[in-house]
Amino acid sequence: MKKRYIRLCVLCLCGVAFTGTGKAQEKNVFTVRTNEVKATIQPTMWGIFFEDINLGADGGLYAELVKNRSFEFDNALMGWKEQRKEGAVGSLVINNLTASDKANLRYISLESKAEAGYGLSNEGFRGMGIKKDNGYDFSVWARRPAGSKVTLKVELVGSQGAVIGDATVVPVGNEWKKYAVSFKASATDPKAHLNVWLSGTGAIDLDMISLFPKDTWKQRPGGLRADMVQLLADMKPGFLRFPGGCIVEGRNIDERFQWKKTIGKVEDRDLLINRWNVEFKHRLTPDYYQSFGLGFFEYFQLCEDIGAAPLPILNCGMACQFNTGEVVPLDQLDPFVDDALDLIEFANGPVNSEWGKKRAEMGHPAPFNMKMLGVGNENWGPLYIERLKVFTKAIKAKYPGIEIVNSSGTDPNGDRFDYLNRELRAMNADIIDEHYYRAPKWFLDNAKRYDSYNRKGPKIFAGEYAAQSVNIASPDNKNNWQCALAEAAFMTGLERNADVVVMASYAPLFAHAEGWQWTPDLIWVDNLRSYGTANYQVQKLFSVNKGSVVVPMLLGNEAATGQKGLYGSASLDKNTNELILKVVNASGEAQDADFIIEGAKGGRGTLTELSSSRLDQVNSFEEPLAIAPEQKPVQVRNNKLSTSLNPYSVNVIRIKVSAR
Ligand code: AHR
Repeated sequence: MKKRYIRLCVLCLCGVAFTGTGKAQEKNVFTVRTNEVKATIQPTMWGIFFEDINLGADGGLYAELVKNRSFEFDNALMGWKEQRKEGAVGSLVINNLTASDKANLRYISLESKAEAGYGLSNEGFRGMGIKKDNGYDFSVWARRPAGSKVTLKVELVGSQGAVIGDATVVPVGNEWKKYAVSFKASATDPKAHLNVWLSGTGAIDLDMISLFPKDTWKQRPGGLRADMVQLLADMKPGFLRFPGGCIVEGRNIDERFQWKKTIGKVEDRDLLINRWNVEFKHRLTPDYYQSFGLGFFEYFQLCEDIGAAPLPILNCGMACQFNTGEVVPLDQLDPFVDDALDLIEFANGPVNSEWGKKRAEMGHPAPFNMKMLGVGNENWGPLYIERLKVFTKAIKAKYPGIEIVNSSGTDPNGDRFDYLNRELRAMNADIIDEHYYRAPKWFLDNAKRYDSYNRKGPKIFAGEYAAQSVNIASPDNKNNWQCALAEAAFMTGLERNADVVVMASYAPLFAHAEGWQWTPDLIWVDNLRSYGTANYQVQKLFSVNKGSVVVPMLLGNEAATGQKGLYGSASLDKNTNELILKVVNASGEAQDADFIIEGAKGGRGTLTELSSSRLDQVNSFEEPLAIAPEQKPVQVRNNKLSTSLNPYSVNVIRIKVSAR
């Protein structure tokens, strides 16, 4: 359980507090000017960055339990094993329709010469997480040659070898057809596997062998893991950026993310190797592919479900510059630009438009109201600017209302950043996407970063950030309280500058405990469990306490940007008539604080605190709420709210206010 810090402060007189150490402490007096609006906070302010990294989609959010369901991995039988019980005789062959224009080229042909005991098993993604009494939907595409008597016996087998669910499928006819059957599991097991046995002698062709839990998000068949989406919904995110990240760029142009290949019937979506498959030698993930069961339609639908504005990012005609850095010649960029224009039509166009029709056919005739589009992820240099200009011209000509998110490269400073920052400002870019994977100290030191930004220039999207406890993408990085606290301090600076910073998102989002490539990550999962890290608690606390306008909160005569380890920002929620104060005490000392509320009458309120006396404290599967919000009542008296800020704490105070 959370270890509470015992406050040392015993006496407070005339603005001077005495601590248990005997040292006199100057009281911190914050002045909050409620009638001086400094900026409007955009509804998009705090959002989510999603990328299919760390088994984020397949093996994670996308609830499919069968790995390599359509035999399209480079090794067609990866994840599968031929099963032959004693005495059983059978054989298999993988067919490849390479000459066809189909997306899903391969299928498997099985033949059994025995009445029983021959078949296949699938290991799932690090096993299959199965829940007692939950329903499971099995489906398969099959055709049975004339004369064959083969039927299918489907079994879920627990890690100790017991059958924990089964069903029978009886394919008929020699035409490809989808067969589906549902059954309940009799036990919970994080590491089950699936067997598909042939009953009777003869041959059968199979493809798209699939198993989904019934308890998906909104109970959608073939849908998303409900516990993972719930964690996102709980954040009340202002936007969802998808599908990345470097995955947008691909290791080379051929392996870039192409949204058009991710829509329509799932069996027609073209599988692609995941670029994180071989990215880190120390975290190789050879079985990491993208089935695109979670495709662009599903991303838009997810945005709608959780109330987040959609922010798709598209390839700009460049592959990842950390990998091949391949570029598409400028005179061949048209199909890439068309992808952008068509995406806007897919999201927003009428049902009688070419791409709007496809959206409607997938079950969503109403538009998704997409207002922003990213061109390029972490691309940099003149090659990026040249391509970006082509995209910008075409998008603005056809859809002037769409705001374009532009890359400022990989780092928040240095030559790459300076060049892009200059060029993008000269282009009068809408929104600049800045990324910072830095040490916790950088975040503390940069709470003022945006104070000096041009208020009339492009808006800023803090598109990817996370404090790195060891080094950028080091496998030893931890989602510890030190990092989360530093991010919170920095985020007060983002909020104070909401006239410039319009969106922010931590990255990456998800990581599977047994299949990750990159750490730290906001949410960790295994096959059955999920938890929000300390960083998640910070993100959520800021997001659910967003406010609508920024008002000044001064510590002495200036904003709290680290004086004595204090950081802060204040906002008003015009919908609820509440004043929201966010104060981070990044120091190891308890600090007394008076908040003088000017311009409004304050009454009762609450103080929600995240804190830990240990900077190395983390949340975990065993202790998912080691760092979690705790709330207590507070009261404004004679315009003043007095409280003590615990060491290493993030505090959000909400007070009902009325005009004076
Ligand atoms: O968040 C992980 C990676 O970090 C993203 O894919 C990329 O944009 C950044 O370098």
